[in-house]
Amino acid sequence: MSQFTEIKPQEITENPFQLIGNDWALVTAGNAEKFNTMTISWGGVGIMWNKPVTFSFIRPQRYTFGFMQENGCFSMSFFDEEYRKALAFCGSKSGRDVDKVKETGLTPAFTEEGVPYFEEAKLVLVCKKLYAQDLNEQSIIVPFVKESYNGDDYHKMYVSEIIKVLKK
Ligand SMILES: Cc1cc2nc3c(=O)[nH]c(=O)nc-3n(C[C@H](O)[C@H](O)[C@H](O)COP(=O)(O)O)c2cc1C
Repeated sequence: MSQFTEIKPQEITENPFQLIGNDWALVTAGNAEKFNTMTISWGGVGIMWNKPVTFSFIRPQRYTFGFMQENGCFSMSFFDEEYRKALAFCGSKSGRDVDKVKETGLTPAFTEEGVPYFEEAKLVLVCKKLYAQDLNEQSIIVPFVKESYNGDDYHKMYVSEIIKVLKK
């Protein structure tokens, strides 16, 4: 039986700066047949078009990128500190080369919409893509932003509706 209960986005009490920037998260996209997960620490949550949303930034060279593009929904899973090693692994190895589920021991689960997430998470945001756009050099205002890029590896930004929040 799932240990999760569903809450509203407005009932999330965690600090998003801590949650995303310091604790990190796993972005997971795909389906029960094939999915991939990777660590993120950039992004945000807020309101857009009057909906509760996440803002995610995925570079095109990530294996996860293809899964993000091909699927309408994805999840963001947040974990306790004891999973830091697993998140570091998922943020330094590619699913093209390793089986992240096997190597980390994390347990995949699927929402009724078929969106993959992880049973060990303490908080899961199920996200439905609303809008995607590539960042680009022309839009940079302050030069330091360019230091994050070497050439054409600009992130794609996804603005996604939070359609479900699962909390332990
Ligand atoms: C703490 C941390 C945060 C990261 N944040 C992002 C991010 O926001 N966007 C991104 O594209 N890559 C980010 N990465 C890099 C990916 O997680 C990493 O390249 C991963 O190996 C990609 O896996 P994949 O090829 O299986 O998709 C981050 C890595 C770490 C360790």
